[in-house]
Amino acid sequence: MQKLIIKGKKKLLGSINISGSKNATLPILASALLSNKDITLKNIPLVQDVYTMINLLKFIGLNIQISKKKNTLKISSNKKLKTIAPYKLLKTMRAGVLVLGPLLAKYKKAKVSLPGGCAIGARPVNLHLFALEKLGAKIKIKNGYIHATAKNGLKGAIIKFPSISVGATENAILAAVSAQGKTIISNCAIEPEIQDMIVFLKKIGCNINFISKRKILIIGTKEFKSTSHEVIFDRIELGTYLIAAALVGEKIIFLKIKPKVVETEIKLLKKMGVKIKISKNKIIVFKSSKISSINIKTEPYPGFPTDLQAQIMVLMLKASGTSKITENIFENRFMHVPELRRMGAKIVTNKNVALVTGPTNLSGAEVMATDLRASVSLVLAALNADNRTIINRVYHLDRGYENLEKKLKKCKANINRT
Ligand code: EPZ
Repeated sequence: MQKLIIKGKKKLLGSINISGSKNATLPILASALLSNKDITLKNIPLVQDVYTMINLLKFIGLNIQISKKKNTLKISSNKKLKTIAPYKLLKTMRAGVLVLGPLLAKYKKAKVSLPGGCAIGARPVNLHLFALEKLGAKIKIKNGYIHATAKNGLKGAIIKFPSISVGATENAILAAVSAQGKTIISNCAIEPEIQDMIVFLKKIGCNINFISKRKILIIGTKEFKSTSHEVIFDRIELGTYLIAAALVGEKIIFLKIKPKVVETEIKLLKKMGVKIKISKNKIIVFKSSKISSINIKTEPYPGFPTDLQAQIMVLMLKASGTSKITENIFENRFMHVPELRRMGAKIVTNKNVALVTGPTNLSGAEVMATDLRASVSLVLAALNADNRTIINRVYHLDRGYENLEKKLKKCKANINRT
């Protein structure tokens, strides 16, 4: 098992290139199953979850060429696809369940492994199945698999989600764009990654439009076109490094990004006293010594993202006073807390609320990564801790952060992988 060794308190200086979004790439890759025309995807983050999704799509039958140096994928399909997504390919990457919608729409059947839970929660897929049943699918769960059939094909329907779900919204869209007739989906998730997937779907010929903030109108089609698409930047990676800059940055420049996408995060960081300068597609973070406490709750976009909850907690440790963070999305997303406590953090949790007291001087320790975002919060803590921190199980990090050490080293961080 690989480890990261970080010597803290080094000031960061330089610029960080943000990679393409993992959470836009995954549903867009699933969308590629709909069309049998050639597709080129650019700005792809070559992280473990993307490789896992590529392996799943290759197993199903797509041809996928990866150009590592250009972060580009060329996708084509010239044979009948399999309609099965096996457990061995889904057990490490739940987003594989997104192949269910497209395969069902295209082949009227699909057998997809029921994605397991993970460290942050049970992660049920009932909302995914609810939407597909509305479109006419018959669903059976047997031996850990979702068996879905639609012998007369999927038919357009009215789908009203009882609660907001990113993955269920994506699966519903990917099924409805190739169903017969009109579908209206309301109470949709509207994350930028979903909006980028919709841009891609329009490019391949889908008829899909927002008719109000969380309502989408789709007219099904079976005709698709070839296309090339550059995936949106990763706003969670950006948010992570903005917090790193606020913790130990002298001056860090972020280029080729759209500040508007992260305006909630920027407003909040400024409120905490972080010195940030914004221009059209650039953000600069300056040395921020006086950080004040704040109360935050995680919400669906455009609210504060749950994927930055573990990271902002580390900045709260630098703030003077007691901050409060309420995790409203996942039931068990404080796995980073016991590890941060080992570095001296003063955090009290009660159910989905954490009280964080600062300023706390963190000291290096040996810690354990548990899930993707928890592990990067340990990296942030290590950057701002005395002495040396060793982070175990860094494979969690590799699922979603491309070239993390390289990007931080380029900004003078003392970080090495063993
Ligand atoms: C996506 O997960 C992201 N993953 C997550 O990022 C992110 O944390 C999450 O959205 C919320 O923004 C990808 O995009 C690949 P949800 P997803 O369905 O779609 C419950 C990361 O670190 N729910 O919006 O699984 C669910 O349990 C990952 O990159 C149901 O009850 O999230 C949760 O409490 C972690 N039934 C809430 O809804 C369902 O059928 C929101 O989950 C589906 C979800």
